[in-house]
Amino acid sequence: MKKRTRVNHPPAVELPPGNHAVVAPIYQTVKFEFDTLAETEAFLRGGRPGFYYTRASNPTTRQLEQLLAELQGREECLVTASGVGAIAQTLLALTRQGDHVLCFVETYNPTRYLIRRLLGRFGITHTMLGIEDLAAVERELAARATRLVLFESPTNPITRIADIEALTRLARAAGALTVMDNTFAGFHQHGEYDVDIFIHSLTKYASGAGDVMGGAVIARGELIRGMRTDFSALGGVLDPHAAFLILRGLKTYFVRYQAQCASAAQLAQLLDAHPAVARVHYPGLASHPQHQLAARQMRDFGSIVSFDLTGGEAAGRRFADTLQLFALTASLGSTESLVITPSMMGGRELSAAQEHSSGLTAGTIRLSIGLEDPEDLLADVARALDAAHS
Ligand SMILES: Cc1ncc(COP(=O)(O)O)c(C=O)c1O
Repeated sequence: MKKRTRVNHPPAVELPPGNHAVVAPIYQTVKFEFDTLAETEAFLRGGRPGFYYTRASNPTTRQLEQLLAELQGREECLVTASGVGAIAQTLLALTRQGDHVLCFVETYNPTRYLIRRLLGRFGITHTMLGIEDLAAVERELAARATRLVLFESPTNPITRIADIEALTRLARAAGALTVMDNTFAGFHQHGEYDVDIFIHSLTKYASGAGDVMGGAVIARGELIRGMRTDFSALGGVLDPHAAFLILRGLKTYFVRYQAQCASAAQLAQLLDAHPAVARVHYPGLASHPQHQLAARQMRDFGSIVSFDLTGGEAAGRRFADTLQLFALTASLGSTESLVITPSMMGGRELSAAQEHSSGLTAGTIRLSIGLEDPEDLLADVARALDAAHS
């Protein structure tokens, strides 16, 4: 073999039987081959296991899928290039022209955009309600056949709590599938409820480091098998290197989540006691209007603390600009603390009445609490609150 040929066919190094890598290697390859054409054909017919093309599956992304399915307490998982990719591909895979989707004013903006703008172009209608209005949900499900009920809990950014037992019961009775974006609560929560499909942005708590994007759809095997071909055809696949980074992030998921929740609870107390703050939105606080429901459904209340400043937008600007340890940017669940204001929340496309019922005010601030020392975070927030109050 000439050297020019050899560099394209380097020596294969395989671990001998009984010898294993402690951290699984990244299968940074697009293609896999079988030894013979007959075996290739058998694989393509579904007659033997294996891997062929990374857009369909890859051992590194598969390892992540299996781990996430187990963490969320379901049989199967598909991972995607981003959380929004997981939502878009799920909506496209599960709906057809003439279907109706139920969603909520408190739902994450880009999800509402996908339902309204993208599905709307293909003749799929939707109704948007308030997440706490179970009577309206019951009425709507009785009034028309509904394919999907899509919700979050806690909601972004106001941390309202969905009554998961009631929503899933109503949807199941009406023959609608429930899709729950469980990004805020994490993989270790809500698995015991009768939710058909869980969606997560892996960009957040799974990775933790804020240096990689990903998404996941987790459900019973039959549902995921029905979506797998569409997902592969849509092509928003997670890269194996990103899957490796997310697998690495997950090793510290539980300790990070719990430490971030503990700091969030301390900050929520500080905010609750400060005269510059009209209302704190943190489900772990006894003063949260749905604290009882949150305590029934959740073991950990998350690291997102939102609140309304009495001084409105001007106070919010002073608050955000005074903070030193909180990065003024999107996303959440990372090891650094983050802050956003309403003007950073994008085109929400809600009517004045819907905006009002969503709970967002001109003085609302959303904090994502990171892994910094809580004393430093408390001091930083206290200083910014004083500036907001001046
Ligand atoms: C609740 C929720 N779902 C989905 C997403 C989208 O995830 P990604 O940024 O990975 O596309 C986000 C992002 O902020 C989110 O907050």
